[in-house]
Amino acid sequence: MQKLPPGPRLPKALQTAIVLRHWPRFVAWAQRRYGDVFTLRIASVGTVVYLTNPADIKTVFAGDPAVFHAGEANAMLAGLVGNSSVLLLDDDLHRDRRRLMMAPFARDAVARQSAAMSQIAAEDIAGWPVGVDFPVAPKMSAITLEVILRTVVGASDPARLAALRTAMPRVLGLGPWATLAIGSPGLMRHLPWRYVRRRIEQADRLLFAEIADRRADKDLAARTDVLSMLVRAADDEHRQMTDRELRDQLMTLLAAGHDTTATSLSWALERLTRHPEVLAKAVAAAEDSAAGDPAGDEYLDAIAKETLRIRPVVFDVGRVLKAPVDIAGYHLPAGVMVAPGIGLVHANPALYENPDRFEPDRMLGATPGPTTWLPFGGGNRRCLGATFAMAEMRIVLREVLRRVELSTTAAAGERQRVRHVILEPKHGAVIRVCSRRAPPAPVVATGPAAPADRCPVE
Ligand code: HEM
Repeated sequence: MQKLPPGPRLPKALQTAIVLRHWPRFVAWAQRRYGDVFTLRIASVGTVVYLTNPADIKTVFAGDPAVFHAGEANAMLAGLVGNSSVLLLDDDLHRDRRRLMMAPFARDAVARQSAAMSQIAAEDIAGWPVGVDFPVAPKMSAITLEVILRTVVGASDPARLAALRTAMPRVLGLGPWATLAIGSPGLMRHLPWRYVRRRIEQADRLLFAEIADRRADKDLAARTDVLSMLVRAADDEHRQMTDRELRDQLMTLLAAGHDTTATSLSWALERLTRHPEVLAKAVAAAEDSAAGDPAGDEYLDAIAKETLRIRPVVFDVGRVLKAPVDIAGYHLPAGVMVAPGIGLVHANPALYENPDRFEPDRMLGATPGPTTWLPFGGGNRRCLGATFAMAEMRIVLREVLRRVELSTTAAAGERQRVRHVILEPKHGAVIRVCSRRAPPAPVVATGPAAPADRCPVE
């Protein structure tokens, strides 16, 4: 049996340069040229076998986590998220850490954050300009950062919140030069990268201060923010996370949950303003959702799902093989990275009729399979914050649609631009608000209401 599938013969450096600029187009071309499975060679990653067939992707997601290492595939984030981050761990350590982190991201715990999400969105939308074009991506970025700071970090002291609002974007928005030092933290000792260390240390001081406050809080047991739940969480042997581990998980949640959700929301508005009929249905759904009608929530969720299908912000995920594996008729050697290609699966006409059309209706009442709709990855590494992200998308979209009237546009869709591991709208999702709507009625609470004094973590 052959070891590696075919792939471009271009030198590794050239393939890397093309991927950095034209990632979705390059892998789409490779699929057309070589078929559903092909090999790429990428600097600092190595040999990557790209998978686009759901059956092959199932082999990865349902495979033995000891053989398919995701933590190793994420190693380039070590300098930012820290060595005990759930993103970087593998094997039993990953399983145990992830288990401790599940409760705050379960449906009922997320439902307790809904009111904060809608209030934060409403406050931001109140400041949007009227009658001019503006990129909505920075607004979405501010909203999702505030949501994470208040509901995940649980910050409430005004001075600390203000400091976090400044410090976190300086760390999470570090450019390509800084990512060299994040992948090889030793570089931060050297002058050209010392600013990276200073920025991370500044953010760390604020996060450690939050952790200390939480440990000293007499009301810790009643608190519902994610950090409080993580401070309380203990494994079967009653072991709890150290301050350093908590810091690493907080930084991970900020890095994994902020830009991804903001960019997905930006894409949703970019798509809606180019589809007037869908936008009209979305506005009606927002009103229904606010009035407590589940059908409204369902349509907003369908918009979020279809946006994540047609514009997945994370285009593929990786697993480093720790042993040889047979996939798609090849005997892949250990050391190779396999990469389920989220974006290419979502664009497959055999799985989605007219895949280039933005049609939220196709998601109504549908339960897409884990290997045909996979914006959150899959298996034992599926995004821990998927429920949180879906709720946030629904709530922020609802607040936008019922507070402002958006202009539609016949302009061509914005192209996808590569930034770090994310695909964002090239111009920041430019939209225009034509008018403000009358102040909306308060939202009727839906979903599982959990008593404020009870928390499912223990
Ligand atoms: C639309 C928004 C989001 C998208 C598209 C997204 C996507 C992803 C993807 C593709 C992965 C890798 C899965 C894999 O390797 O199979 C992932 C992992 C992860 N995400 Fe998200 N994510 C989003 C929002 C969030 C949020 C809001 C949080 C938390 C606040 C979060 C926390 C995490 C964590 C902790 C992991 C690592 C899980 C592990 O390794 O076990 N994500 N996400």
